Amino acid sequence: MKKNKPLKVSIVMGSQSDYKTMQLTEKTLKKIGVSFETKIISAHRTPKKMYEFATTSIKNNIGVIVAGAGGSAHLPGMIAALTPLPVLGVPIESKKLKGLDSLLSIAQMPKGIPVGTLAIGEDGAINAALLAASIIANTNPAIKKKLNNFRLLQTKSVKKKPR
Ligand code: RP5
Repeated sequence: MKKNKPLKVSIVMGSQSDYKTMQLTEKTLKKIGVSFETKIISAHRTPKKMYEFATTSIKNNIGVIVAGAGGSAHLPGMIAALTPLPVLGVPIESKKLKGLDSLLSIAQMPKGIPVGTLAIGEDGAINAALLAASIIANTNPAIKKKLNNFRLLQTKSVKKKPR
């Protein structure tokens, strides 16, 4: 019987300028050994590309989509409306409103189409990778083991005393 390829995470972002933050999603997934792809897709600058990506994502061996966007950050919600896959949104820290605009745009989805929203900026980018990995781990015991190990190392790294 043909073995199924493990599901990958698709990291998408609205602009090249989001990569400074979203590279942390890549780095964290690499640490845990989750396969991923990375694309720039903008809901307003490349809407046809976004439509094509979202509507074909389930056929393309993707298990989770992580979408980073800033400002009026409609990318995660638009993608979520076009695919049944879980979509995690990373609010990029914007210059004018420090990412509060991005956070509210992503978190305040009206009922019916959910987007899992992470923290603004770097913490959100890292946690999006960890959450995506734990979703993939539900059907992938090797990733579950690596994720457990990541947490064990993190626990061990906490010092007993402040000095
Ligand atoms: C959003 O607009 C992007 O996600 C980015 O965070 C923001 C600014 O984009 P650039 O003007 O830097 O390309 O679509």
